[in-house]
This record gives sequence, C-alpha cells and structure tokens, in this order.
Amino acid sequence: MPDPRPIEIPASLVGGTIPKHVAIVMDGNGRWAQRQGLPRTVGHGAGEESLLDTTYGALSLGVRVLTVYAFSTENWRRPVDEVRYLMNFNSGLLQRRQHELHDQGVRITFSGRRDWRVPKKVMKNMDSAESLTGANKAMTLNIAFNYGGRAEIVDAVARLVADKVPANKIDEKALRSRLYHPELPDPDLVVRTSGEYRISNFLLWEMAYSELVFTDVLWPDFRREQLFEAVEEFQRRERRFGGLDK
Ligand code: IPE
Ligand code: IPE
Ligand code: MG
Repeated sequence: MPDPRPIEIPASLVGGTIPKHVAIVMDGNGRWAQRQGLPRTVGHGAGEESLLDTTYGALSLGVRVLTVYAFSTENWRRPVDEVRYLMNFNSGLLQRRQHELHDQGVRITFSGRRDWRVPKKVMKNMDSAESLTGANKAMTLNIAFNYGGRAEIVDAVARLVADKVPANKIDEKALRSRLYHPELPDPDLVVRTSGEYRISNFLLWEMAYSELVFTDVLWPDFRREQLFEAVEEFQRRERRFGGLDK
C-alpha cells in the first residue's frame, strides 16, 4: 500500500536544513492506553500507525536515516506478558509492513543485541526484512531493538579487544567503526515523546552533538505533522559543535 496521505510539507520547512538522521524515542504507549481505560498493549498496537506515518513523513522530507527506539535492553524488566506482546507485535509489524516499506524504497536495518532472549521467530523476521530491503536507497529505517547505548559501547570495546587493537591505536575512529552501524551518520535530531526529559540509554555515543526536542505528545498520537514541527524547531537551533558562531 503506498502512502495513504498526500504529502504536504509545510512551506516554512522548505529551504531550511533537513536533518540527515532523525532518531525517535517512541514513548508513552502505555499511558495513552491507560488514559482510555485500555490495557497498555493497546497503546503499543496503536503505535504502528504512528511509525508508518512518521516514516512516510521523513521520506517525503528527504531525511536519509530514521532510527526508532522500539525495545531497550532494560525493557526486559517489564512483566512477561508485556514483553511477550512486544516481541510478537514487533515481529508481526515487520511481517505486515516490510513489503510496503520495500515498495517505497526503504532499507530496514536493526541496532541492538541479537542475544538468546530474542525469540527465533522475531530474529527470522528481522533477517527477512533486512535481506528484502537491503539494496534500497530512498531512506534507512533503523530499528533499535534489544538496544542499549551502554551495551553498544561495551560491544564495540569487546570488538577492539577481539581485533587485538593496541592501546595506542585506540581512538574515537577505532571505536566508532565498531558500533552497530558505523556507516550511518550521527543523528542530527533526537525526538522524545510523552513529556519525559531523559535519554533512557539511547544512542549514547552517537548523540554527543544531536539537537534534542522533547514533546508532550504520546507516541500513538504522533504523526508526520509532529515530525515536521520537530524539524522546524531543529531549524531554529544554532549548532556549534564546540566552536564559535560563524
Ligand atoms: C514506549 O511506550 C514503548 C516501549 C518502551 C516498548 P511505554 O510502554 O514505555 O509507555 P509508557 O511510557 O509506560 O506510557
Ligand atoms: C525508552 O522508553 C525505550 C523505548 C521507547 C523503547 P522507556 O519507557 O523504556 O523509558 P523509561 O523507563 O521511561 O526511562
Ligand atoms: Mg515509557
């Protein structure tokens, strides 16, 4: 199914800098459901539409990479039923949506640990989405799944050791090249929904100089319009990277 809504990019965004890489902490699903007296899992389900609409919005803006935080290394602490739901839901979402995303030229990748806790069926759907869409060029949708920023850095350090890199050759470039996706640029813009002002172990290395935008909107209510608003906010920021104004 192609983009179900016509693309209307706000005039105010045209001509401004479009972030190459946008990363989103998709938060607030449980609260969204509970406010309506529904089980938390209904909120996760409702987030599917938000993800697809936001992906189309990013595509139409010309964003090159969209990273979304779908499941953290800490989310295993949730009740087993919710964890099971999230595993099945994410796996089903890939199955349901990979062809649609493929038709739009989206490459699907994953950041995170593929350890024993991730069910085989989920792993299979991840592999299949990756191989189906691997050659696509329109945009990369990078799904952070069983992802932790600290775990990613630990894994990179373990690789440095496995590669027998001598201490005097360890620099930022050597470490960065061992992160999960060294080919992706660092995020220019990180958005967190649901009114929480924290990072929750997301992209710790990569967001060193990202612009952060926080919104009270809960993830199931988030659509491309909210992405566009975040990009407008991004365009008002002045990035200095430790240097001085131009
Ligand atoms: C985000 O929504 C989805 C995941 C963390 C998997 P939450 O489930 O964290 O929803 P809230 O924050 O409890 O409302
Ligand atoms: C961050 O949200 C993880 C994801 C969105 C997948 P959480 O809901 O897990 O974060 P905390 O617990 O509020 O910090
Ligand atoms: Mg949350």
